[in-house]
Amino acid sequence: MMINRYAILFFLFLVPSFAHGESQLGEIPPMQTDGYTSSAVCGKCHVQIYNRWKESIHAHAYDDPIFDVSYNIAYRKTAGEAKKICLPCHAPTTTFTGDYDAQLPITKEGVTCDFCHTVKDVDLHAKDPYLKEIGLVKRGPLKEGKGLEGKHEIAYSELHKKSEFCAGCHDFRSENSVLIIGTYSEWKEGPYPQKGTQCQDCHMPLVKGKIVSSESSPVRMINEHNLVGGHSLAQLKKAVDLKIVDVNKGAARTEVLVDISNTGSGHQIPTGIPSRHLVLNVEVLAEDGKVFRDKIVYEKVLADMDGKELTDDSDIMLGGSIQIIKDNRLRPKENRRELFTIYTMDSKIKSVSAWVDYTYKPLILEKAAMQVEMVRDRFLIVD
Ligand code: HEC
Ligand code: HEC
Ligand code: HEC
Ligand code: HEC
Ligand code: HEC
Repeated sequence: MMINRYAILFFLFLVPSFAHGESQLGEIPPMQTDGYTSSAVCGKCHVQIYNRWKESIHAHAYDDPIFDVSYNIAYRKTAGEAKKICLPCHAPTTTFTGDYDAQLPITKEGVTCDFCHTVKDVDLHAKDPYLKEIGLVKRGPLKEGKGLEGKHEIAYSELHKKSEFCAGCHDFRSENSVLIIGTYSEWKEGPYPQKGTQCQDCHMPLVKGKIVSSESSPVRMINEHNLVGGHSLAQLKKAVDLKIVDVNKGAARTEVLVDISNTGSGHQIPTGIPSRHLVLNVEVLAEDGKVFRDKIVYEKVLADMDGKELTDDSDIMLGGSIQIIKDNRLRPKENRRELFTIYTMDSKIKSVSAWVDYTYKPLILEKAAMQVEMVRDRFLIVD
């Protein structure tokens, strides 16, 4: 039954679309009243928001190749059980449709419009944290809507402006209650909640735009829907600051004092899935051309109960009994002073550089490995 209904919807999208004017409203496919409506329908009116969401990682939470590879491994390791573990976050409409074999087009839309905008409440202690009220009422930050044309109703939701709304997916505990993904908890323990800064303030900032692309709809401030994070260079560059505080040349060694701080990230950096790392590198250049290097890796490392390190995303995300064996990540607003002792022997030192790389090596083709330089500082020695 469900399949038929979606098949009809799908067919309607194949009909060539016309200019998005008010006069075209009649051509908009019907909204579902007892199931999820496809983002393509929402996108007929909410054109700008749809275009931004489409390029977000949320829109690809189910079909992004990095997830796909690790999902397939997890699926095999658990004889299919993984679908009920992974899909509630990566294709959350499944918790209502039960479509764990991804037969419906809506499942492949990942974290889709209608999932987020029909959430009524969040209970972080429940097995499924999201209380849904699926239907024609769409919930969000607007107190009243104009010119809805009877397509859907709206309801004001304070929840949508709060971090708790994101927490149901951005905190993930193992069977023995160890935080695997702890972005929300990290935020909550940091200084941002007191300042009233929510996830949305940094990841869905207000920009000028139109909620609905019709002539009568005014240009106003709307929320960005592309939710940039660790995959965005601009976002990464905002996050960390770095300064070489002092360089001391000793007889056989050079001591370098570096300040590194998490200035712009609302949570630990790196956050999210533990396979992401932050690397602070120091390089001493001698006058004879010799180069000496050292580094510190900031990371959260998980292990099984026997202490064997878990490096594969699928093992980590299956969420069995685990323990944290290392966590030296930078907390929000934390400034940390690091001392590097580099054995430069009798070389005469010319300059010292320090820089921070963000690295991520998912289990997929080598070329998917990611390394981004975030900040750099240089210290010239003048005798
Ligand atoms: C991950 C959940 C999520 C997804 C997916 C999502 N939204 Fe939103 N949307 C929000 C949140 C949260 C807000 C309010 C943010 C705030 O006020 O701080 C919002 C705001 C809105 C608003 C009110 C205007 C504005 O921008 O403030 C509209 C309209 C809207 N979204 C439509 C859509 C459409 C259409 C899609 C799909 C193309 C979509 N949303 C996808 C979470 C989501
Ligand atoms: C026929 C055009 C149309 C379609 C299709 C449409 N919307 Fe809307 N939507 C509107 C209009 C008009 C408003 C009110 C805008 C305003 O007040 O300026 C609105 C408002 C909203 C809001 C704001 C609610 C609030 O209280 O903050 C959300 C969220 C939303 N729509 C989500 C969706 C989603 C999700 C879909 C697809 C399932 C969708 N819309 C499909 C026209 C549409
Ligand atoms: C239904 C679950 C769900 C909800 C609700 C949700 N997210 Fe996500 N989010 C995900 C998943 C799953 C991914 C990773 C997708 C992937 O890479 O395959 C993700 C990715 C992201 C990323 C991108 C990270 C990167 O590496 O670039 C950001 C930023 C983000 N979410 C922020 C938010 C914020 C802010 C909210 C609340 C407004 C929110 N999310 C709500 C599931 C969710
Ligand atoms: C003060 C601004 C700020 C706040 C508040 C904030 N973030 Fe972030 N977030 C960032 C910045 C900057 C980055 C990029 C650097 C990094 O990875 O930490 C980021 C990265 C991310 C990533 C990508 C992680 C990665 O390494 O790929 C996710 C997911 C994310 N944030 C989710 C959230 C969620 C969920 C909340 C609320 C609980 C939140 N953020 C609150 C600024 C913020
Ligand atoms: C509680 C919600 C939740 C569950 C359950 C979950 N994930 Fe995720 N997953 C996320 C979020 C949120 C992110 C994004 C965090 C970040 O950017 O670091 C993510 C990111 C990922 C990534 C990185 C994707 C990328 O593009 O970088 C992989 C791989 C992944 N998950 C695999 C899985 C697998 C496999 C399962 C099931 C065994 C699973 N996840 C279960 C929430 C979840």
